[in-house]
Amino acid sequence: MNNASIKNRIQKLREEISRMRFEYHVTNKPDITDDMYESLGRELFTLEEQYPEYRDSNSSLNRVAGAASPHFKKVKHSIRMLSLNDAFNYEEVEAWMERMHKVVGRSSFFCELKLDGLAVSLIYKNGELVEGSTRGDGFIGEDITMNLRMIDTIPLKLQRPYPDFVEVRGEVVMAKRVWKNLNIQQEKEGKQLFANTRNAAAGSLRQLDPAIVRTRKLDFFAWDIALLDNKEKKFLLSLHSEKHGLLRKLGFEVAPYDALCPSDVDIFSFIEKVGKIREDLPYGTDGIVISVDELQLQEKIGIVGKAPKYMVAYKYPAERATTKVTHITVNVGRTGVLTPLAHFNPTSVAGSTISKATLHNMDQIERLDIRIGDTVVIQKAGDVIPEVVSVLPAMRTGKEKKFSMPSTCPVCGFEVKKNKTGNKQSSSSKGPRISSTHSLKDRGQTISHRTLLAAGKNETAPSVAYYCTNKNCPAKNRRGMQHFVNIFEIYTVGPKILDRLKDEGLISDAADLFTLEVSDLSGLERFGVKSAENIISSISSHKNVPLWRFIYALGILHVGEQTAQDIASYFGTLEKVMKARKEEINAIENIGPVVARSIHEFFSHTENQSFIKKLLSNGVSIQMSKIKKGGKFQGKTFVLTGTLSTMSRDDAKEKIKHEGGKVSSSVSKNTSYVVAGDQPGSKYIDALKMRVPIVNEEEFVLMFL
Ligand code: IVH
Repeated sequence: MNNASIKNRIQKLREEISRMRFEYHVTNKPDITDDMYESLGRELFTLEEQYPEYRDSNSSLNRVAGAASPHFKKVKHSIRMLSLNDAFNYEEVEAWMERMHKVVGRSSFFCELKLDGLAVSLIYKNGELVEGSTRGDGFIGEDITMNLRMIDTIPLKLQRPYPDFVEVRGEVVMAKRVWKNLNIQQEKEGKQLFANTRNAAAGSLRQLDPAIVRTRKLDFFAWDIALLDNKEKKFLLSLHSEKHGLLRKLGFEVAPYDALCPSDVDIFSFIEKVGKIREDLPYGTDGIVISVDELQLQEKIGIVGKAPKYMVAYKYPAERATTKVTHITVNVGRTGVLTPLAHFNPTSVAGSTISKATLHNMDQIERLDIRIGDTVVIQKAGDVIPEVVSVLPAMRTGKEKKFSMPSTCPVCGFEVKKNKTGNKQSSSSKGPRISSTHSLKDRGQTISHRTLLAAGKNETAPSVAYYCTNKNCPAKNRRGMQHFVNIFEIYTVGPKILDRLKDEGLISDAADLFTLEVSDLSGLERFGVKSAENIISSISSHKNVPLWRFIYALGILHVGEQTAQDIASYFGTLEKVMKARKEEINAIENIGPVVARSIHEFFSHTENQSFIKKLLSNGVSIQMSKIKKGGKFQGKTFVLTGTLSTMSRDDAKEKIKHEGGKVSSSVSKNTSYVVAGDQPGSKYIDALKMRVPIVNEEEFVLMFL
């Protein structure tokens, strides 16, 4: 990006974040989530760090959202309502802990749930609730006492013994179950849906009629005591965790899971433990609040800006983020249907880095109006493949390009045609699966029914499918692809997996396998992160192959393992093989005119040339042939039979070839040695019959010395 476009991007980001914040906090619009503006905020933060000349003191990053509403009386908080600094990964938590240790030495930490609701402040005088207010901008909030009185879990009178004065802070939340029922009701009445429990709680608290608030069944969890009249020293409070104890005694609910963590490891195991159950908790929990437990130390550490330094909020990985579509490629499925695949600037969603997502079909692109260069919202819930849920048109610069399907097949160059009914498409590539819709809704998190519909989450097939008209398009050659992965020894990728990858539009051919990432697979049905990791690591560990294996994998007619080996050892490099004349190939021992023609023809086809080019540019490399000039086995042919105990058969073949020898699959008069391992087969008998020398494994190994 040049300077003008960076400045422009920063400006757009500021405007969009500001608009989203307003809609989110003030009008409680349902289609915006924390993840989305946090993601835009991170991009803005990075750009402002990189280009300080474009910083602005009025940047949306420096603002606390939530202007006081004109409908409620304003109240000034006697102690500012702060917010928390976030840590988005373990490294950031570790860095924070290290800073704490530096300032206060070893100290215990206290971990508690970060409930996803609205902070409120409650003032009790002589045990009675006298005032309740929202955070507002941290200094001035709104008096919503009447509404807060409608919440059963806010005690109107405290349990004895209570202090004469106490200011309690905590979170007003709506249970996931209540939110779901509320949305069903809203939908029935044709009213706007709430995107998440937090928006529903916020919208409910802003009701002018307390009777409506009552019907919303909100709850309150206390998390701090801001002020306490403790003149008579009746209440012993030297730890943050002791505040929680006192809050319980006074009659408040405090979030159910917490932990005193004497060592740093305990913090991470608490985060992990809650991470496993948080989807099943009745209330939305977006992170863990970690505090230095000792109040005196908290004071020593202090506050900077709007956040205390002695506390940090670890945020569980976001399920939505924003990123830019850099380009769109097209893959060809096993039935020949073309599937567009969006490529993004890599971005972290739900703990994995996402750099591409299927767009399913042209209908989906048109429905969402996705253009190359667009800033889009992507989503990746744990068990669902990443997908684009919406576009942020406000982020457009005018340079975005509309996408259209190619008129020729990207694999074979044949004509692409449209099919009106869409029935050429395999069932699983019609669009997002309905099961993923359910799993998202059940998460009780971020998605409204409308967003789901906007993202095309229905089971209807696209009205138009684009397909390659070539009956013999290599993309349709399932057997060829399976042969390729077998010869490359990528045994984790079986035929079913290949079909799935093709149906999802993730690959057209075997070369595409080498561009896959864990996040592409981990969302596919029945694919856990572990199995996705296994597959990706086995693909990447088989990228480097000997020349003969590369040639054999191409599936050239009449070229088996032995012929591939003969060609490889004769020419030595792929370049020479590709350029070889028919006569030259024909001159190789054991290669006849039919085979020579087939090899020559294969390498002269442009689609085969571009497949080879694609393999190489996707990271496949050919091991340098290490044949020694004048090696020990020059002119000798070996046949292997039975199992060797000290090396694999492939290793033995490589060793023989390294010394200039050849390996043949059958015994003939020309065989120099038969190497017999454990339980040799019929080749052993053949060797006996033909009086070919037989060596056992020990003798074979000695031959190299
Ligand atoms: S302590 C210094 N503890 O998270 C401010 N906050 O992102 C005191 N929240 O405004 C915050 N659960 O609305 C604290 N156990 C918890 C919390 C919690 C949810 C919210 C709260 C705060 C926001 C900061």
